[in-house]
Amino acid sequence: MPRPIRATISSAALKHNLDIARRYAAGSKVWAVIKANGYGHGLLRVAKALEAADGFALLDLVDALRLRSAGVNKPILMLEGFFKPQDLPFLEKYALTPVVHSLAQVEMLKSSDLGGQIDAYLKINSGMNRLGFAPDNVLLAWNSLREDPQIRSVTLMTHFADADGESGVRGQLDWFNQMTHSLEAPRSVANSAALLRYPEETRAAWVRPGIMLYGCSPFLDQSAASFGLQPAMTLSSEIIALQKLQPGERVGYGFSYETAGEMTVGVVACGYADGYPRHAPTGTPVLVAGQRTRIVGKVSMDMICVDVTGIEAARVGAPVTLWGDGLSADEVAMHAGTLSYELLCRLAPRVPVVET
Ligand SMILES: Cc1ncc(COP(=O)(O)O)c(C=O)c1O
Repeated sequence: MPRPIRATISSAALKHNLDIARRYAAGSKVWAVIKANGYGHGLLRVAKALEAADGFALLDLVDALRLRSAGVNKPILMLEGFFKPQDLPFLEKYALTPVVHSLAQVEMLKSSDLGGQIDAYLKINSGMNRLGFAPDNVLLAWNSLREDPQIRSVTLMTHFADADGESGVRGQLDWFNQMTHSLEAPRSVANSAALLRYPEETRAAWVRPGIMLYGCSPFLDQSAASFGLQPAMTLSSEIIALQKLQPGERVGYGFSYETAGEMTVGVVACGYADGYPRHAPTGTPVLVAGQRTRIVGKVSMDMICVDVTGIEAARVGAPVTLWGDGLSADEVAMHAGTLSYELLCRLAPRVPVVET
């Protein structure tokens, strides 16, 4: 007898969101970013729904091989490239495009026999200071790749630190252009935020949207719905118990919530072991039988308490939406002090997934 919780993944929403990304991309090719198990939606499920993408971007070699075994023959971009010399033979064999971001990788490539040709991305550090070549080493890395007969093509890329924030993309874009102006190569710079907010400046040969494909917004100040995006994941459950409380009664671990008046509390089969954020405070929105209300007290491992006072339909078995259809994961994440990215990719393996 399974618990009533489930995640419903809508392939129609994924396809629809890819269409929106394509509209913004205006002719650029689209890497669908499907790392972290397709942002929690399921790697192969997402790859199938997004089969109209021009290629898939991810991190793990094992995931790339899973895609190839499932018959995916589109380009695959390895966002962190390769890690050890032992990884290199897989690149040519499985037609994977590594991101080369460090001199250590350049050295590994130089001393390897790939057994054929591969395409590569050269990552430039334009200010985020995470991965990529600093100005002093860009030419060295570029020349090394261009002179290597095993490298068929080089695309230049960078990643924005604050395309969703106040800094925007201008500073990093100028820096990237300055560092690469003498290099003849296709480029790829845009993540979802850059594509949605700065499409003209950042669409290039390829764009790399992630979060928007899953129907969430990269912005704190602009909703996914305002871009026409549809949530791809709905986390839902049911009420499994009701408590009728008097004023001054307390709810949950730590007795952290105390009722001001009479209150009916619904107990929902969903907790932090399902991926619901433990830090979501009293007041975090939830839908009960389609009606918006709030959680009260502490989130526990398997249950959440919600205020269902005055909600007629809130009986045992009533449907509850934690996020997704009708309640954006962005909004829930904001209450919990995190981002929808984290909610989506933390969906627990124990939650049954239903595909629509
Ligand atoms: C290099 C790179 N490109 C693109 C993306 C997609 O970003 P987003 O999900 O914000 O669109 C990511 C995600 O972190 C990334 O690391």
